[in-house]
Amino acid sequence: MSQPYLIRPYLPSDYPAVSRLWEETGMGGAYRGDDEATIARTLAQGGQFLILEADGQVAGTSWLTDDGRRIYLHHFGILPAYQGRGWSHPLLEASLAWVKSKGMQVKLEVHRENHRALRLYRKRGFEPLGGYDVLIIRSMDTL
Ligand SMILES: CC(C)(COP(=O)(O)OP(=O)(O)OC[C@H]1O[C@@H](n2cnc3c(N)ncnc32)[C@H](O)[C@@H]1OP(=O)(O)O)[C@@H](O)C(=O)NCCC(=O)NCCS
Repeated sequence: MSQPYLIRPYLPSDYPAVSRLWEETGMGGAYRGDDEATIARTLAQGGQFLILEADGQVAGTSWLTDDGRRIYLHHFGILPAYQGRGWSHPLLEASLAWVKSKGMQVKLEVHRENHRALRLYRKRGFEPLGGYDVLIIRSMDTL
């Protein structure tokens, strides 16, 4: 039997649905700088953005950026209505297959209380970078 989902590259027309998924999963959106232009820029720089599509809608996202040294996995999520079906596994596998094709290490940030995501990533081989904190300058005014 065929799968009830397909995994395909992002299309610009997906953005409104992608943005809704990010809001519903608490992963942010345009207000954090994750807008259409940013996605397009990362794709032009060699990144990848995978969509898990089910019932004709965006049910999962996996955004992979290439900084020339490493791949970063961002906004990996499944729409709440489709969670708990094991679909994060094929989306992660497709993402890691792409990473492998790039021949680079892959890095991600996950909140220490996000046990479901942590379990998923640890099970697939991601390990904590012991001893490091993640720092960011959010305000352009302080640059
Ligand atoms: C993290 C996330 C992608 C996992 O997808 P999912 O559809 O919920 O989970 P899946 O059904 O694919 O299963 C993944 C693992 O979570 C476990 N899981 C599923 N439902 C669960 C539940 N209700 N409670 C606890 N664990 C659960 C499964 O057991 C599975 O692990 P296993 O296969 O090793 O047993 C999804 O919950 C999500 O989008 N969360 C919000 C966004 C987020 O936090 N993303 C990560 C950012 S770093």
